[in-house]
Amino acid sequence: MSSDFTTPPDRQHTDSQKWQKYAGQDILPMWVADMDFKSAPAILETLHERVDHGVFGYGRPVPSTLEAIVTHHREHYGWEIDPAWIVWLPGMVCGLNLCSLAFSEPDDTYLTLTPVYPPFLTAGHNFDRRAVRVPWNRENNAWTLNWDALEAAVTPQTKMFYLCNPHNPIGRVWRRDELERLGAFCEKHDLLLISDEIHCDLILDDTLPHIPSSMISLELAERTITLMAPSKTYNIPGLGCTLAVISNDKLRHRLERNSRGLLPEVTVLGLSGCEAAYGRSEDWRQGLLATLRANAELITQTLADLPGVTATGPQEATYLYWIDVTELNLSDPVAHFESHGIGLSDGNFFGAAHNGFVRLNFGCPTVTLEEGLRRFAIGVKAAQGSA
Ligand SMILES: Cc1ncc(COP(=O)(O)O)c(C=O)c1O
Repeated sequence: MSSDFTTPPDRQHTDSQKWQKYAGQDILPMWVADMDFKSAPAILETLHERVDHGVFGYGRPVPSTLEAIVTHHREHYGWEIDPAWIVWLPGMVCGLNLCSLAFSEPDDTYLTLTPVYPPFLTAGHNFDRRAVRVPWNRENNAWTLNWDALEAAVTPQTKMFYLCNPHNPIGRVWRRDELERLGAFCEKHDLLLISDEIHCDLILDDTLPHIPSSMISLELAERTITLMAPSKTYNIPGLGCTLAVISNDKLRHRLERNSRGLLPEVTVLGLSGCEAAYGRSEDWRQGLLATLRANAELITQTLADLPGVTATGPQEATYLYWIDVTELNLSDPVAHFESHGIGLSDGNFFGAAHNGFVRLNFGCPTVTLEEGLRRFAIGVKAAQGSA
């Protein structure tokens, strides 16, 4: 089996959530965050072998799976994970919700920076907690943190900070000095740090290292719950395999206690996929990054030629592009672009500052993206009355 980043797999009439949404309509789905690529060959081979084994009992990770995780994070980020720190979960969204339940009480709050991946906002609401939104600053095509607003948002009810590292949907990589300051902020206010690092292996600007939040200091590691998964990078979200890495024994036991009896085990296919992803798919990941870099560049160039539309910042990470269409004055931007054949994510769900943002998923062959951008440009021109 070889890697293929140029041929779009036919996902129509399949179990794909992304493609079912527009079944029977000529709308190219570029919304939910999975990619239109086959997974890495090593993952496919491993899954074939596992299926051929023919027995699908309750699973437990084997030593080689743990070794693959530990080695990957040591080699890429210098992070030495003790396998005893890992709590296995069937999904990242489970992890975000479980942290809300386990580490706060009803009416407590946590801080998060908006726009942000929507479950960061609903994880509180689901359990009578509340996400307090602090908007990112956007100036001159750059995103910065509003530390004064963060300080002002803290109350005695604030128990946690939900961090997206790197940040979806603005595609931004956190800098060391920012994480250090954030660590000091969490210590000052005695907050736990819930660090979602699912996009860490998808950094497009290779001058920017991913820094695991837990690596900032031992003090910060003691108050950090890191959530990560091979699902985004290796395109296996349907296999349901997430890791919560928690070095603080008390916090880890608390998370485990709160999940007992509620969450299913990670399946044997999830465990096999995880090992093949972290352990044997680096060449594929590099090929993926090359394709995503070219795609991001294509979007940036296309948007530069479209009046009324703004790329919101350099695309440093992820395959999700956050686009400002405010100037088009559309009452429902997603419906407008759907009517021109492209299905985007609605910025309002991410807690965008105002109506007028959409997110485009460019995890697809360039040929698919070209068609999507062609339709997007027609939609933009129609909005300006010049189509
Ligand atoms: C930041 C972030 N966290 C979590 C998830 C979802 O993870 P899962 O499908 O494992 O629940 C996504 C999916 O896009 C994401 O962008």
